[in-house]
Amino acid sequence: MLNKNKKNNDLMEKIVSLCKRRGFVFPGSEIYGGFAGTYDWGHLGVALKRNVTDAWNKAMQNHRNMTFLDSSIFTSGKVWEASGHVSNFSDPLVICNICKEKSRADHLLENAGVKADEKLSELNINKIFDENRGTIKCPKCGGKDFGKVQASNLLATSNLGMLDGKENQVYLRGETAQGIYINYKNVLDTGFVSIPFGIAQIGKAFRNEISPRQFLFRKREFEQMEMQYFCHPSEAIKNYEIWKEERMEYYKKMGINPKKLRFKPHENLVFYAKAACDIEYEFPFGWSELEGVHYRGDYDLTQHQKFSSVDMQFYDEETKEKYIPHIVETSVGVDRTVLMVLCDAYCEDKIGKNERIVLKLNPKLSPIVCAVSPLLKNKPELVEYANTKVYAPLKAEFGRVIWDDNGNIGKRYRRQDEIGTPFCIVIDFDTLADDTVTVRDRDTAKQERIKVENLKKYIKEKIN
Ligand code: GAP
Repeated sequence: MLNKNKKNNDLMEKIVSLCKRRGFVFPGSEIYGGFAGTYDWGHLGVALKRNVTDAWNKAMQNHRNMTFLDSSIFTSGKVWEASGHVSNFSDPLVICNICKEKSRADHLLENAGVKADEKLSELNINKIFDENRGTIKCPKCGGKDFGKVQASNLLATSNLGMLDGKENQVYLRGETAQGIYINYKNVLDTGFVSIPFGIAQIGKAFRNEISPRQFLFRKREFEQMEMQYFCHPSEAIKNYEIWKEERMEYYKKMGINPKKLRFKPHENLVFYAKAACDIEYEFPFGWSELEGVHYRGDYDLTQHQKFSSVDMQFYDEETKEKYIPHIVETSVGVDRTVLMVLCDAYCEDKIGKNERIVLKLNPKLSPIVCAVSPLLKNKPELVEYANTKVYAPLKAEFGRVIWDDNGNIGKRYRRQDEIGTPFCIVIDFDTLADDTVTVRDRDTAKQERIKVENLKKYIKEKIN
């Protein structure tokens, strides 16, 4: 078990290190010693993230009754009072009496081998914590003397306006979903959709996480891809089941190892949910939530109706029925998806006698589709050909194309393997004679000769 844990910790370290080394993700505010729970996206990370969000958008666009929204991060404070986040959105915080380290009580219980769900009530978690006090250790000083478990609100706040006083305090959104609920009537009133319909949104969310951890998994600033499906109450459970299956299939089609995906129904429902489950992925640190699928009932619209006094009911012209639609939500983090994609793709294998690290990414998600290399960078005829006849047209077609003439061919292949580039194209002296190039496949390392005029078609077929 110890060995397995060590191997998995090593794997996470390797992924973190690869991300920095190759320019996917950098630690936030690194030159100032870092800033917990924040990361900055580098060139390849931006591309990977964009491919992840494009894939999600495309999947949502496949629904003819889907609409899209981009709501603001700053909202009236009433939004968060109505939603229940001001009073209910919290994590169980516990402080070490010896070194004052702040930890999440459920994480400490987990470390001590005690099952504890993050959605447990304050009362229940205190009870379990008290029963196990003797075995729970502070991760910083190793002490076993803790205060009481308290609910620590997750909403991050900021100040707007000229004064720093309380009256100017604003909440940074803790989920993008609320922006959707407060715009649901606006979307309906455009007349393009009727019940049932969905509103999909990608955007930043912020949480005052007590202990951000596991790299991109739990951050304080992250991005969510959320979809809220508004339907008749009698159709809600059916839609909940449909969305659950659809989202699971989506990951399988994306090429994620199906053995590392599973559903986990929630035992302790969060304050807004009527039914809920997670799609979990087996990360190197264990099975953990990737995406939440929640049946939120009429909770959110009812709350906003109460707090805003705006009628949130839908009037069905055909049946003459008036009702508050029920909501099924799918919610997943972009950062968490990227981490899953990286964990799933990371491989160490051997090509002949040479060991290599390779990201076996689905070509649709790879930041770079192909690398173009003249065999020798000091041969102008090769460089000229590679540049004008291969690189330029492929770059114009696919965008995600890189010029790589640094080091020998072996080194170039290793570098491209590490960033998950599915194809390396090499222009050599034969190219000048017969207009063919070598295309090397990332996963098999096999090479084929392809006519330059067929390159676009060849790559298109492989990445679509
Ligand atoms: N609107 C529902 C909602 O926000 P959630 O389970 O709290 O539900 C949904 O979050 C998803 O957002 C999670 O499954 C995860 O993918 C992502 N997420 C939540 N907190 C996160 C964090 N601190 N860092 C990165 N991703 C996070």
